[in-house]
Amino acid sequence: MDYTPNGIYLGDAREIHHHIEPSSIALSVWSPPYHVGKEYERDLSFFDWKNLLRRTIEAHSAVLKPGGFLVINIADILCFKDSDMPRIMAENISRRKRNDITREQVVAAWAGNPTFNRKQIAALLGCSEQTVDRRMKGNNIRGGKYESQTRVKVVGGLLEDFASDAGLYLYDRRVWIKDAAWENSKWHSISYRAVDEFEYLYIFWKPGVTVVDKDRLTKDEWKAWGARAVWNIPSVRANDDHEAKFPLELPRRVIRLLSSPGDTILDCFMGSGTSAVAAILEGRLFIGVEASPIYVALARKACDVAIHEVLNRLDFEPPVSAEYSQRKNYGSQSDQMRLLIERSRGYVPEAGDVIATGTPPGVGPLKAGDLVEVRIAEIGTLSNPVIGGDEVF
Ligand SMILES: C[S@@+](CC[C@H](N)C(=O)[O-])C[C@H]1O[C@@H](n2cnc3c(N)ncnc32)[C@H](O)[C@@H]1O
Repeated sequence: MDYTPNGIYLGDAREIHHHIEPSSIALSVWSPPYHVGKEYERDLSFFDWKNLLRRTIEAHSAVLKPGGFLVINIADILCFKDSDMPRIMAENISRRKRNDITREQVVAAWAGNPTFNRKQIAALLGCSEQTVDRRMKGNNIRGGKYESQTRVKVVGGLLEDFASDAGLYLYDRRVWIKDAAWENSKWHSISYRAVDEFEYLYIFWKPGVTVVDKDRLTKDEWKAWGARAVWNIPSVRANDDHEAKFPLELPRRVIRLLSSPGDTILDCFMGSGTSAVAAILEGRLFIGVEASPIYVALARKACDVAIHEVLNRLDFEPPVSAEYSQRKNYGSQSDQMRLLIERSRGYVPEAGDVIATGTPPGVGPLKAGDLVEVRIAEIGTLSNPVIGGDEVF
């Protein structure tokens, strides 16, 4: 099993069960390709795409802990190509007021001039050849940007079936309200379609004992989002380094709600590393799997930044009236910490392991009665009294 916690791996979501320890993942949270023509899914037919989801969900039945969760963020396909969708030009009353050419006018012009070609009819009516063509052949009644025959494809049912076949049950679902994509909706202004502004979170459960810990969130958080079906979270402002990032707040909420500190979180469509960053910030372990080497590098970098952010906020908090011979925040030792992180990548400490680090000159020897205390905010304090013997350097 070569995908151990706290690593981002170049790999295929469909194959995770060959690389991850069985029953080791408390929570898997990911957002797959949506079959909407992004660069990283260009080669996938609809059939391939369904297979990708089916096989990835299937692989989860092995890697999830009993009682654990799989959370899938996805949206319905709003412009699903379907050549059976009738091409019927919408009756556009508002445009007609502005003297737009109607189908009836084109038909009448051709009836009066049966030898005319399309170009001549267009010149006669004072419109473009494209308009003549659209009025005669029909158009996509939904307003098509690239395709003339599209409809909505609901994906929730597909996921439910794949999960059910894999022994996972639909436990809950939430709706994420994102920024309204007004810019993308201009082209369907002559239809009754709504602007694209929400996605889903489908929560699947693997049968087994599930820890229910109401202390994971504060009372206010339970009220604001923990117990709410609709989550309002702004979209990522700039998808400049990856074309489909979800906002950090999304996996962060899922992680806080459905896992405990120390649990291992999986994202097998890792992208830019958002879920791993959320796991790090929330004190969880993570495994990331991503098919693109460029995004693997991006995600690893994001993790390093997050680890430093966490380390920088750690501090030794002095107990009242204690005397200190050394008191330092990790932020002031970031080079050493970077080295430590690099060296320890891929190594998972277990309960009882000892991590020994040195101290700078001048701190002095330890002697019987001293107390060595490491306090990590949000995690706890490790106290070791020095009980006797020779001085320790
Ligand atoms: C919707 S994006 C995920 C974005 C991610 N949530 C983030 O915030 O950056 C889907 C990602 O899955 C990756 N991908 C596509 N097919 C894959 C596969 N078979 N196995 C693993 N990753 C894959 C793509 O390269 C892309 O980065």
